Amino acid sequence: MYKTSSCTKLFVQLRCASKKHTGSSGKWLSRHVNDEFTQKSIKENYLSRAAYKLIEINEKYKLFTKKTPQKILDLGMAPGAWSQVARRYTNPDSVILGVDLLDIDPVEGVDFYQGNILFKSTLDIIKRHFGVTDVNKETSKVVDVVMSDMYGFIQTNEQYDRDRIYSNIGTNKSINRLQNITGITFKDHMGSIDLCDATLVVCLNLLKPGGNMVCKILRGEEEVLLKERCERLFESVHKFKPAASRAESKEYYLVCQRKKKDSLTVQELFIGKG
Ligand SMILES: C[S@@+](CC[C@H](N)C(=O)[O-])C[C@H]1O[C@@H](n2cnc3c(N)ncnc32)[C@H](O)[C@@H]1O
Repeated sequence: MYKTSSCTKLFVQLRCASKKHTGSSGKWLSRHVNDEFTQKSIKENYLSRAAYKLIEINEKYKLFTKKTPQKILDLGMAPGAWSQVARRYTNPDSVILGVDLLDIDPVEGVDFYQGNILFKSTLDIIKRHFGVTDVNKETSKVVDVVMSDMYGFIQTNEQYDRDRIYSNIGTNKSINRLQNITGITFKDHMGSIDLCDATLVVCLNLLKPGGNMVCKILRGEEEVLLKERCERLFESVHKFKPAASRAESKEYYLVCQRKKKDSLTVQELFIGKG
């Protein structure tokens, strides 16, 4: 079971903030520690302030239900706040699987696989986890909700120590594959599009007709084309920026509701039916 007392978390944050951080890192830390969503996440025992983005998305778009068990996939899970939200807002019999390049501390009631979503082998492991043997059968589309918050800064403070980033998967170091924000707007945008496309491929393979998807994107010129791809797969697609998403950040979320019944090939998803 995962346990982090709010005192410990607050203490680590305050200790970080009191070190001699100068310039932009000092300003970032002090803003982070004083931020209303950070404070709330400590009180409510969420692993990060990101929890409140998903809570607001769920309030508006009703991704989760307590009425029936759901199968939920959390891409880019670390440290695990979105999975905690899914756990709290769904039926106790729901199955939640998180995937991340980084290792995490276990989150109660959530399964975890450390891997890169851009690798086909990761998709195969996700399929096996949900008991899918043949993706060509419509009955193998078993997942109710796919959510992706992939991208973001490597966090080296209270949530996981930096050594975790260096834990090996096979012989490769995950840091070498981490799609981290560079500050180069175009590169960051294209990296974000790659991760959204990988999320769409997961939806194509595993999401039930009628299922929902939420996906983080960093604004940029390819966003219109990405939205069109989403519209091929889903009945409705909305752009949404939750209050907990910082105004100066280029991120927003695409909330895609009700996967269409007609099956598409990967080519049809990416270039249309011609
Ligand atoms: C902003 S964090 C997610 C925060 C999470 N939603 C939460 O509530 O705790 C983004 C995560 O995406 C992960 N990520 C980035 N690229 C990835 C990839 N190719 N495959 C798997 N995870 C990836 C990063 O390792 C990082 O942990």
